[in-house]
Amino acid sequence: MRPDLSVRDVDIRELMDDPRADERMLARTYGRFGLVNAVVSRPGLIYRRDIRPRAVGARPLRILDIGAGGADLCRLIAGRLRHDSIVAEITALDADERAIRWASAHDRGAGVRYRRALTTELADAGEKFDVVLSNHVLHHLDESELRTVLDDSRRLLAPGGLASHHDISRSRIAYGSFAAVTWPISRSLLADSFIREDGLLSIRRSYTPAELRAAVPPGWTVRRGVPARLELRWEDRRARP
Ligand SMILES: C[S@@+](CC[C@H](N)C(=O)[O-])C[C@H]1O[C@@H](n2cnc3c(N)ncnc32)[C@H](O)[C@@H]1O
Repeated sequence: MRPDLSVRDVDIRELMDDPRADERMLARTYGRFGLVNAVVSRPGLIYRRDIRPRAVGARPLRILDIGAGGADLCRLIAGRLRHDSIVAEITALDADERAIRWASAHDRGAGVRYRRALTTELADAGEKFDVVLSNHVLHHLDESELRTVLDDSRRLLAPGGLASHHDISRSRIAYGSFAAVTWPISRSLLADSFIREDGLLSIRRSYTPAELRAAVPPGWTVRRGVPARLELRWEDRRARP
């Protein structure tokens, strides 16, 4: 039976967020995020549109991925930047020690920095980035965490920087498509992982563009994307040094 998708189900909790989650299944989940992101998150577009154009001058491009999980997005960006001969420092940040442990053990020569911390720690320390990203994190946050992550994202931006938070947009089509596409591979590619169950729970917890617009402070822009995506964006208008 389809759940009621007319309102955000903020009371449900994803299985991967359980501190007692099965370690082997959690590891497989981190390992499968790359597959999901390749299909739904359009990492190539994020790279071409938002990252590569910010590489100007001799200074390394500083990129922060908040809630990096398995950090596949960081590794993919590192590979593209290397291919384009752009020097960069990429930080994969996650609040969950288990994610950081898994991701740093699977860096595969990407040279990403892995940190278990909350954004406030970095912002209070005065750290600055040219691009602050997240993917599939907004729907995990409660109201106060959302406010904190957004305020910190702005504080973390260097002049001319971009904060860009990507997530699923809740809809019946998103739920139905994810359920249909993952069902045939649930016992093969996605076996022993939380991907299918957590993906469906995520959609129930995620925002529609109108809800997100109403939930964020003024100045943030919400864009719709395909397939069933949304992006929350802030561009720092100060001139780059
Ligand atoms: C669904 S996973 C997404 C992982 C990855 N970004 C991706 O697209 O595959 C959400 C991640 O956000 C992390 N997270 C949740 N709240 C966070 C916060 N306030 N600060 C940093 N990480 C957070 C979780 O620990 C989890 O690893």
